[in-house]
Amino acid sequence: MSDAAIVTGVAVAVVGEKIAAVGSQAELERSYPGATRVDCAGRLLAPGLVDSHTHAIFGRPRFEEQELRASGIDYMEIARRGGGIHSSVRDLRGRPEDELVTLAMPRLQRLAAHGVTTVEVKSGYGLTPEDELKSLRVIRRLGEHLPMRFVPTWLGAHEIPQEYRDVPEGRSEYVRLLVSSMLPGVASEGLARFADVFCEPGVFTIDETRTILTAARSAGLGLKLHADELRASGGAELAAEIGATSADHLAAISESGIRVLAESNTVATLLPGTMLFLGKEKQAPARALIDAGAAVALATDFNPGTSPTTNFPLIMTLGVSQLRMSVAETFVAATVNGAAALSLVHHVGQIAPGYSADLALFDASDARELPYWYGDHRCTGSWVRGRVCHSSTAETP
Ligand code: NIG
Ligand code: FE
Repeated sequence: MSDAAIVTGVAVAVVGEKIAAVGSQAELERSYPGATRVDCAGRLLAPGLVDSHTHAIFGRPRFEEQELRASGIDYMEIARRGGGIHSSVRDLRGRPEDELVTLAMPRLQRLAAHGVTTVEVKSGYGLTPEDELKSLRVIRRLGEHLPMRFVPTWLGAHEIPQEYRDVPEGRSEYVRLLVSSMLPGVASEGLARFADVFCEPGVFTIDETRTILTAARSAGLGLKLHADELRASGGAELAAEIGATSADHLAAISESGIRVLAESNTVATLLPGTMLFLGKEKQAPARALIDAGAAVALATDFNPGTSPTTNFPLIMTLGVSQLRMSVAETFVAATVNGAAALSLVHHVGQIAPGYSADLALFDASDARELPYWYGDHRCTGSWVRGRVCHSSTAETP
């Protein structure tokens, strides 16, 4: 991961949707004489950022919980009192599809304005077959209307809905509903590329997670887990065992979890904004994971409860300052490894011939400036498949 080639004085040639060559400007001008030229003026051109973990489909933001946590009522306690995910679920169920599209659109445009060109978006605030399908259709419509590249994930197992928590046998009934009713609907409409489960003590157990994800794999979906976020419960070990594409959060991962992830092909996706916003002192052991040989990705976890930020470069700041990653490692984590966490590693996340022309231009002359000017907004433009995705200034075509 420390091998990211941060180079100076090069130009990039794009033909159609793809990167055709990377080389000196003089060389590329000779090879592509009639090409349209974009002057990056010596600024930082990066692969478009790949945000591989968001919950961007929600209605009302949850401002009230931030102060509650500050007063000593923690995330799980708020959920036990019917807040947290339950509160977003009640809200989303009452909103029609069109309204959810309208609400999500500017939120995702903000993410694009920070240099994100590929975004994974989860359902998970519906928790009924109709409301989960509604959320996934919203993601599909957003993908048709916005230039970013979208990867949809079904997260029907985000929480045991309140109406199932309150009755005996409710848990197992909800798992049955997920596997035998929701999943076939999602798969038959082709609405999701991945399935995800919030595997955590108090939410879904290891056995329930295994059942749901095994069924999802049979239905043709890739697998993801929210694993070992607040307490170690064997989530990382399960992710490796079932061949998940990524295991996400991992702030409480065990020593054995680190070992098995390092030996597996599962990407360890770390979400330091979430721990920061929840006011936790602990962060995921990024150094131990990387040094053991795991592939670490960074993502925003953009959601209304635990990480209401669209500022991906700020997450890279936390990567350096909180997770003790090098700048090169944060760039790899935000691009190449984010792409690996979405099974897109051969298509996006690198500036190399054959890759999609997904690029982001930042107002910085040194790559180290991106995590340095923390909380700042430095992206001046981006392209997806060679076409403009975001443009903040008249000078970026
Ligand atoms: O990734 N941990 C579970 N899910 C989200 C939070 C969802 C919410 O609180 O609305 C997360 O942090
Ligand atoms: Fe999440």
